[in-house]
Amino acid sequence: MRLSKILSAGIFLLAASAALAQAPSYSNVGRTPTKEEIQAWDISVGPDGKGLPAGQGTAKEGAPIFAAKCAVCHGANGEGGKIGPRVVGGIADTETLTTLKPVRTVGGYWPYATSVFDFINRAMPRGQSGTLTPNEVYSLTALLLFKSNIIKSDDEVLDQKTLPKVQMPNRNGFVPARFADIPDEHKRGCKQGICP
Ligand code: HEC
Repeated sequence: MRLSKILSAGIFLLAASAALAQAPSYSNVGRTPTKEEIQAWDISVGPDGKGLPAGQGTAKEGAPIFAAKCAVCHGANGEGGKIGPRVVGGIADTETLTTLKPVRTVGGYWPYATSVFDFINRAMPRGQSGTLTPNEVYSLTALLLFKSNIIKSDDEVLDQKTLPKVQMPNRNGFVPARFADIPDEHKRGCKQGICP
């Protein structure tokens, strides 16, 4: 970069930070969102089920919804299509994360069943997110978990109470977020007491 360019970039940065320092207060712009508007955005569901809406569904109820709204991208049986990835399986011995060719699915990979609900609820069907009712999302979640053999019956009712109790196969397959929470020093990458 030529010196003059560097200088003018510097001047620009100075000008920008000066402008930031005197940022006007936008008190006359916008308005406080209503409770309903905040609720519509506040859809995150935690691992413990916090944030799950009222409602319920079974895999049996999910099947026709999947056929109508999901199969076009994910395949009739969730096996994956041209647009959407495979959404069932991934937990058979031949395809888990411990094999050389792991099939990464929500069932085989994700640690919390509640995240399946959260993801479908916030992001699917792709391009039309936000259009599913809570009952539809519970039913679709049940369908994917049933087809992956994680829940055993297509009559099993998933709701605010039962969904967080579903144990995902890879629940303990993740490294803890905090280094200090890995008790085994070898697993932290430490050698002879010296850690990276
Ligand atoms: C228009 C195509 C399309 C439709 C319709 C669609 N999906 Fe998807 N879906 C995708 C794509 C593409 C991805 C992966 C990229 C992404 O995450 O956006 C995906 C990702 C997913 C995942 C996460 C997969 C993973 O392992 O990360 C799930 C679960 C899922 N979809 C469920 C559904 C369900 C249930 C429906 C029906 C309500 C649905 N999808 C409808 C295209 C679609």
